[in-house]
Amino acid sequence: MGSGSIDKDKLRSYATAVWGYKQGEMVSLLIQIGDRLGLYKALDGAGQVTAKDLADKTGLKERWLLEWLRGQAAARLLDYHDGDLFELSTEGALVLADEENSLAFAAGAFSGGTPPDTVDKLVDAFRTGIGLSYEDLGPNAAHRTERMLGPWTKQEFVPKIIPALDGVQAKLEKGAVAADVGCGGGIALMAMASAFPNSEFHGYDPSRHAIDRCQDKIDAQGLKNVELHVAGGEALPRNPTYDFVITFDCIHDMTRPGEVISAIRRSLKDEGTWLIKDIRSHPDFKENLRNPFLAMFYGFSVSACMSSALSEPGGAGLGTLGFNPAVARKMVSDAGFTRFLEHDFEDPSNLYYEARP
Ligand SMILES: C[S@@+](CC[C@H](N)C(=O)[O-])C[C@H]1O[C@@H](n2cnc3c(N)ncnc32)[C@H](O)[C@@H]1O
Repeated sequence: MGSGSIDKDKLRSYATAVWGYKQGEMVSLLIQIGDRLGLYKALDGAGQVTAKDLADKTGLKERWLLEWLRGQAAARLLDYHDGDLFELSTEGALVLADEENSLAFAAGAFSGGTPPDTVDKLVDAFRTGIGLSYEDLGPNAAHRTERMLGPWTKQEFVPKIIPALDGVQAKLEKGAVAADVGCGGGIALMAMASAFPNSEFHGYDPSRHAIDRCQDKIDAQGLKNVELHVAGGEALPRNPTYDFVITFDCIHDMTRPGEVISAIRRSLKDEGTWLIKDIRSHPDFKENLRNPFLAMFYGFSVSACMSSALSEPGGAGLGTLGFNPAVARKMVSDAGFTRFLEHDFEDPSNLYYEARP
């Protein structure tokens, strides 16, 4: 037991904070269930509904829905009205229901907690120092990443971000060769490939689960201009091949980011462009403490990003917050890039860097 007298108010507020995280875990579960069952979509635009109304609409059991609806109202995610009526507000629908059109969509991030066997492996990683790669995390991790990062990429990358880069859109329209390194489930890759049919796109990712997800999408969309590689960025061509390379939310996950950055430099044509998207962070931990979601980012880091970046001996281990603008600028210039431009596209979680040889 700690030394010193006990401040009862501090004890109460500390315990409340800790139980608040447990409450977050349980609310997360109810969000995941609601998302999987399509309940938010069913509530979107439906106005005030009873559990029976929702049961009639979805074919699900009324008693289970009532408990879920009351839990959602308790979490203030649904408005509650007299007569056990529940309502998803317009704003709530943008966060929980509208995956295709809303930049605020967040329900896709709730795809279940960390499986017990992964927790065992993470506990072990604190002893061995060796973490788990995205491949080790299995297919669910690739799916979760894709739904969490997808809305921004799908809605903003082609219409807003590519046109802001020097000369890239014109090259892609005419016919260029581009690579998505660390492509994950391929949201950015597919967005580019369908928007620019005259160009050719290569996706690289060492996780077979991620590449399988890309392949399914290519088949479903019948895209003929995409080529996939189950390989890390280390395996990029050694001669200038690409007009455009992107790395989205992945440099900080790599065991050897310096090697991959050098490989990108070698594979890029002299007039090419490398677009980096990475977490909005600051070199100073105290500055980062202003971020209200910092604790969540450290959770992502231990469970996925830093773990992946330490998944082989000697891994760099940058982690979620590790590729901040200062580190990015230095590593990019060390690899021989001479132009480095920071873009803020008002993505709440990420900054974008345009690097050119
Ligand atoms: C957070 S996910 C991002 C995926 C995708 N870019 C997106 O925005 O949805 C990070 C990805 O980096 C990949 N990765 C890890 N090490 C890598 C390496 N050395 N080269 C290329 N990709 C790597 C992982 O397999 C994982 O799919």
